[in-house]
Amino acid sequence: MLNSFPRPILFAHRGACAHAPENTLESFQLAFEQGTDAVELDAKLSADGEVVVIHDATVDRTTNGQGRVSNLKLADLRQLDAGSFFSGKYRGAKIPTLDEVFEAVGKKGMINVELTNYYAGRDDLAEKVCALVKKHRLQDRIIFSSFFGYNLKKTAQLLPEVPRGLLALDGWKGTWARSFGFMFGDYQALHPYIRDVNPQQVQRAHRLKRRVHVWTANAVEDIVRLRDWGVDGIFTDDPQTAVRALGRGA
Ligand code: G3P
Ligand code: MG
Repeated sequence: MLNSFPRPILFAHRGACAHAPENTLESFQLAFEQGTDAVELDAKLSADGEVVVIHDATVDRTTNGQGRVSNLKLADLRQLDAGSFFSGKYRGAKIPTLDEVFEAVGKKGMINVELTNYYAGRDDLAEKVCALVKKHRLQDRIIFSSFFGYNLKKTAQLLPEVPRGLLALDGWKGTWARSFGFMFGDYQALHPYIRDVNPQQVQRAHRLKRRVHVWTANAVEDIVRLRDWGVDGIFTDDPQTAVRALGRGA
């Protein structure tokens, strides 16, 4: 299904997070209304092992609570206001479960599920996410990504038909992932940081019959340049602007 979208496919990063609180149902719904092809979200486990959608390891920045997500149970997380940090208009927005996101927008386009157990060690996030993908029968609408190749190896065993994108950290920290890590790994896409991409790298990936999805482009000139370099996907906080920049939509 990934290949059936126009290139570059647009991923709304944490939903339409320039317009609504990141990683909320409101943000994902708005992104599809604004014409995105796909949304990106950050999945991790609560203390009681539920797959929840929130970027940071703690709830401090994006909610009215405090503490590590991995120390809070789903019931505690659900009490929090995940909208007011963005604007009063979104007061009362909740941290969603992945189950809820799949239910609400699973059939509206593609979903990039980033497996973000970066501070939790080798938990069973990948197994639980794969079970939810199967439950909702969304195999052809998902792409997994992670900075941890280990997570993607697990999804490859459990759901080999779902494509995998290796995320590369920015700058020198991502050198291995952008070269040997990607080349010799079982990945369908590289997800590099915008300042680390160049046309040669895009061509190299294409010679391997793989894709390049770049994070995160918000300025029109960046979006147009990446399109002209032939990248296969662009993450953006602002799908409304990106859709216009690419000459799509009404
Ligand atoms: O997947 C692209 C991007 O989401 C990776 O970085 O920190 O925003 O999850 P981050
Ligand atoms: Mg992410």
